[in-house]
Amino acid sequence: MVTRTVDLRSDTVTKPTEAMRAAMAAADVDDDVLGSDPTAHRFETEMARIMGKEAALFVPSGTMGNLISVLVHCEVRGSEVILGGDSHIHVYENGGISTIGGVHPKTLKNNPDGTMDIDEIVEAIRHPEGELYYPTTRLICLENTHANCGGRCISVEYTDKVGEVAKKHGLKLHIDGARIFNAAVALGVPVHRLVQAADSVSVCMSKGLGAPVGSVIVGSKLFITKARRLRKTLGGGMRQVGVLCAAAYVALRDNLGKLADDHRRAKIFADGIKQIKHLSVDAATVETNMIFFSITGSTCLSPANLCQVLEEHGVLAMPVSSTSVRLVLHHQISDNDVQYALTCIKQAVQKLLTDGAAK
Ligand SMILES: Cc1ncc(COP(=O)(O)O)c(C=O)c1O
Repeated sequence: MVTRTVDLRSDTVTKPTEAMRAAMAAADVDDDVLGSDPTAHRFETEMARIMGKEAALFVPSGTMGNLISVLVHCEVRGSEVILGGDSHIHVYENGGISTIGGVHPKTLKNNPDGTMDIDEIVEAIRHPEGELYYPTTRLICLENTHANCGGRCISVEYTDKVGEVAKKHGLKLHIDGARIFNAAVALGVPVHRLVQAADSVSVCMSKGLGAPVGSVIVGSKLFITKARRLRKTLGGGMRQVGVLCAAAYVALRDNLGKLADDHRRAKIFADGIKQIKHLSVDAATVETNMIFFSITGSTCLSPANLCQVLEEHGVLAMPVSSTSVRLVLHHQISDNDVQYALTCIKQAVQKLLTDGAAK
């Protein structure tokens, strides 16, 4: 019987804390579609201030935050967005920018650190003289931290450079900042400085920060006015949404300061995995709260069978390919949980090797 659960599948699995539940119960609320929910208003004002933008809007999810942002920047049909082939927007959001927004994606290769080569970005911008044939480039999207690249951080210098390219060519820059606070903490840069070059940012409250629901998009007042209208179009206008914003406010207040601990634990975790035979991880690439490790040199071991044995011991992890597994830390994983999970991984590998040898 499983007596302990260490859930490393994602940082989206956190449960609301007592403080969040209390804040939700006590929240002063009203109809936010009518623009009169005081808790939503207070939270959005605070997020705009922290992110260094004019205005903010609470939305139900990161997916909707990205979709609304892309659609606001690409309101003319035949628009094209330059984005990474491994980006969350391109891979995991049901192609919504195309199916709902009629926006054409121009994908570029993501480097292992999550960046796209600047000269490739410049090269990808459509020449206005070809407008009879080409879609019109209107937007560049970055992702920070980059989830599919192992939670790597995109630097402020790189972001500024992409911002300069965008400006020079009359384009907008959107950042999928689902985990932008992880990046700011790991880089030691204030978050408003990290996103200074961006016209819009989508920030998830329900990932490393641990809120139960919601994301926030930030940008200019005009951008947010248009975004509010699109949020309604997409069915994301919620009424007494202050209940959710109250929890998000507590997440910001209580959990921002814990991200550095998640990153420290991820490094300890990666160092521990490196010691286990047949598992490999490049610890230098573990910059925030994610660890991607590979399984090598044994036909008895696979991400699927390893995760299955781990689950029997209450350790939940996610296979991400035929050779690799992803682990994600969050504020409800302690130092002791990391040691327990490492012990379970070591024992699971040993068991699978022994079982395999006996066949
Ligand atoms: C980088 C990134 N962007 C966007 C999202 C979408 O967020 P949501 O699950 O709230 O729609 C995720 C979700 O995991 C993500 O990892």
